[in-house]
Amino acid sequence: MGQAAAPLEAMVAGGGRLPRHVAIIMDGNGRWAKKRLLPRMAGHRKGIEAAKAVVRAAGEFGLEVLTLYAFSTENWSRPAEEVGELMGLLRHFIRADVAELAENGVQLRVIGDYRALAPDLVKLIDEAVEKTASNTKTTLVIALNYGSQAEITQAVRDLASDAAEGRIDPVAITAEHVTARLETSDWPAPDLLIRTSGEQRLSNFLLWQAAYAELLFVDTLWPDFGRAELKAALDQYARRERRFGGL
Ligand code: FPP
Repeated sequence: MGQAAAPLEAMVAGGGRLPRHVAIIMDGNGRWAKKRLLPRMAGHRKGIEAAKAVVRAAGEFGLEVLTLYAFSTENWSRPAEEVGELMGLLRHFIRADVAELAENGVQLRVIGDYRALAPDLVKLIDEAVEKTASNTKTTLVIALNYGSQAEITQAVRDLASDAAEGRIDPVAITAEHVTARLETSDWPAPDLLIRTSGEQRLSNFLLWQAAYAELLFVDTLWPDFGRAELKAALDQYARRERRFGGL
């Protein structure tokens, strides 16, 4: 462990160790609802509120990129009713909340095969992305129908076809070539990856990109995660010493 924690305000003001990119696996909505004898959807609805609070806080704290894992390629195996309701919530979030994000300088981006979602949702997403494209304060990346292995496989396929067609020499392929072909190529790799609800897995999220990320597993269920919990996570990050394989 390194030096004592600098308070966040000092880090922001003094240009201390603030992560540029924070990625979050939002887990525990179902358990939050179950504890209260509520339907799972109540947990997801509260989860959206938590996500909004965290996006606002990310802007306030000066994060460049916040990536939220909203729906994985594996989530299709949930009951159709829950999948349908999650899509409804997402639709509502984009309709109702993107305007506020846009006013606060947030640029919305999506990774994952979101084009496989319902056509009206795809259109809403494309419009929201376009509407916020010139914002530069914080980039909110929503991972939707996202799976890291599929993303890496696609990058490998692209490189293989470049090699087959003579555009690149296979022996000259480096990690940077792979990085550049991932959907996240516009942003720095995540410095801090948080998973809520006590589970300690990456669940096919940003496997390549998180190679050197600090991992933080917190017991808080996602609906209870907000500004204070993000601040605590950033303080933890500031206390860790990153060595990137060196000494
Ligand atoms: C995990 O809870 C969460 C999800 C499956 C994703 C849903 C996320 C939200 C509704 C927040 C969405 C935010 C945005 C910006 C669209 P879980 O159901 O896996 O919980 P459990 O493990 O306790 O059952």
